[in-house]
Amino acid sequence: MKRNSILLSILSVSTALIVSCSTVEKEEATTLKEALGDKFLVGVAINSNQAGGTDTAGVALIKQQFNSIVAENCMKSEVIHPEENRFDFTLADQFVAFGKKNDMTIIGHTLIWHSQLSPWFCVDEKGKNVSPELLKERMKRHIQTIVSRYKGEIKGWDVVNEAIEDDGSFRQTKFYEILGEEYIPLAFQYAHEADPEAELYYNDFSMAHPGKRDAVVKLVNKLKNQGIRIDAVGMQGHLTMSFPTPAEFEKSLLAFASTGVNVMITELDMTVLPWPSKKLGADISANFAYEKEMNPYPEVLPDSVSQAWNERMGEFLRLFVKHANVITRVTVWGASDEDSWRNNWPIKGRKDYALLFDRNHQPKPVVTSIIKEVLNTKKANP
Ligand code: XIL
Repeated sequence: MKRNSILLSILSVSTALIVSCSTVEKEEATTLKEALGDKFLVGVAINSNQAGGTDTAGVALIKQQFNSIVAENCMKSEVIHPEENRFDFTLADQFVAFGKKNDMTIIGHTLIWHSQLSPWFCVDEKGKNVSPELLKERMKRHIQTIVSRYKGEIKGWDVVNEAIEDDGSFRQTKFYEILGEEYIPLAFQYAHEADPEAELYYNDFSMAHPGKRDAVVKLVNKLKNQGIRIDAVGMQGHLTMSFPTPAEFEKSLLAFASTGVNVMITELDMTVLPWPSKKLGADISANFAYEKEMNPYPEVLPDSVSQAWNERMGEFLRLFVKHANVITRVTVWGASDEDSWRNNWPIKGRKDYALLFDRNHQPKPVVTSIIKEVLNTKKANP
């Protein structure tokens, strides 16, 4: 009898141990999309090796952690519409097929942007600006051919990207030069005509600058007053270790939400590398020569820097969770550090550590801790 009860208690203790171990395992195995997916879409920008399946480790990470994808490059005009009378949908089709196959929310990036712009788009054969009428026609055909091809498959589009400078003035792009600010509502209108169900976004970087904040609020209000559909403002979120402060970022986030549209964090990353210029931001035309001292961590990231990065990234992620009532998507600009454009911009050939997963596709401490925090809060408020 006594022996039996000892056996029984050993059995129940070990069962309890097994149960609690498996609970711990389950918690540890919880992914970003499982933890945060009921708050907002958890997105990632993917490249063509991933959409095409050759980066198998990258694909595994993307499928495991994220429930939404955006095209890092393959839908930009220079790729998808390289000549006036030639669209090339090879990579864009592959990207959309990847999203459909994996049951992900697919986001299109980007319809009208001055960078990575097809050279023919705004000029004639002699390189002179085309007339406003012709540019409107070209924009309409470009936007409507692409949007209607993916009608019902792409949930939302970055319609216009980076139209406003840090001080709030309109960026002097060819689109602006030829059409004035009117090119923005036109682009939204063309996209809406092609897919009335699609969500439409205005997307930009350095949105924490007060000048830019006010100008974007004004732009959104103007579009809304004109009866133009706009669903969200995309705050790119290319952060550095000092800019912006979470408080300034939060001010912009709330200012955009106060216009009645949603907010999306669309291109999140945070560089740890020294910045070569006084001007911050994410203007892809800004490029600087490689110098050894500008690439201080070619082997590993020192613990102190890593810790500071994780702490600061945690502040931003917590801010997004706090405002999950107005934030409908948080997308990181690349799956793992290896994929980050920051390794090559604004200086080519550096080693940056800008994303949530390291080069071995392992989660950074901030990922594990944010998942834990969110799960604990859910447990405390079931
Ligand atoms: C970047 C891509 O990540 C790079 O691969 C490419 O060489 C340049 O563009 N803002 C945007 C994105 O809206 O499209 C940019 O993506 C990063 C800045």
